Amino acid sequence: MREAPTAFADGKILMTIDDRVGIITFNNPDKRNAMSLEMWEGLGQALTALRDDAEIRVVVLTGAGDKAFVSGADISQFEQSRNNAEASEAYAQRSAAQRALLATYPKPTIACIRGFCLGGGLQIAMLADMRFAAEDCQFGIPATKLGIAYGHEGLRHLVSLVGPSQARLLLYTGTRIDAHEALRIGLVDRMMANDDLMPATLDTARTIAGNAPLAVQAAKITIAEVLKDESRRDMAAIKRIRDTCMDSEDFREGRRAFMDKREPVFKGR
Ligand code: COA
Repeated sequence: MREAPTAFADGKILMTIDDRVGIITFNNPDKRNAMSLEMWEGLGQALTALRDDAEIRVVVLTGAGDKAFVSGADISQFEQSRNNAEASEAYAQRSAAQRALLATYPKPTIACIRGFCLGGGLQIAMLADMRFAAEDCQFGIPATKLGIAYGHEGLRHLVSLVGPSQARLLLYTGTRIDAHEALRIGLVDRMMANDDLMPATLDTARTIAGNAPLAVQAAKITIAEVLKDESRRDMAAIKRIRDTCMDSEDFREGRRAFMDKREPVFKGR
């Protein structure tokens, strides 16, 4: 059952709860959902609310309208807030906490992408655990067309998804690729017809929501640690979540439900 949306950032970020799935919508379609600093703040608030809601098991990020996921940072704020190195540093700091929150989010996240997904918008999509794309998507990082150095964090994610050469091609040319190419190079994980995108994304989200939350969390934490350099890998964190999982009520429920030939009911403990 979908509830009425909660608004953040003057309605430019919307949060909806659909059963155990939280949906965050970038809602400024007239500007192709370009991200202002206020929207970053709103995104942080929505992410925090869904993180702290024990009922929520998965978060979906999407763009309002059918033209864009997010068309990048709001360039109209650049003249005032991002016009040299010092200002650019301060500008980046204003969204650093929200980016870190998404990067280390404790629940699974899916970016559900239609239309343009550019620059900082692609960075948001790359910070999600998975990317599902509609056939009409266009991906790109136009930093070299604007004279911007795309940051370390965004490039780290891009290189880990598509490899260094494809990352260079995207960055050096600044041109856009379509959903087929994005799927081919591994930038997105699934591609579907425009009308199927949200239903299929919610279907996957509900499948995840029905699984044992601690086991999903164990997968999320362990995969995140695998992506780190071995010297920085937190093996203790991997062991902690594994032990929590294997000692959990849900593991007992999973075993019993299998033996009883019924669907398990997981509680996340
Ligand atoms: N920042 C601010 N405004 C943006 C924006 C952005 N990133 N992206 C789009 N807009 C605004 C446009 O200025 C335009 O405003 P207007 O109606 O007041 O003229 C409106 O959104 C619609 O954009 P328009 O260019 O007319 O739509 P389009 O469908 O032809 O093209 C894009 C869409 C996204 C390809 C194009 O707007 C674009 O290239 N945007 C910039 C993308 C970018 O460089 N992102 C990286 C930022 S670091």
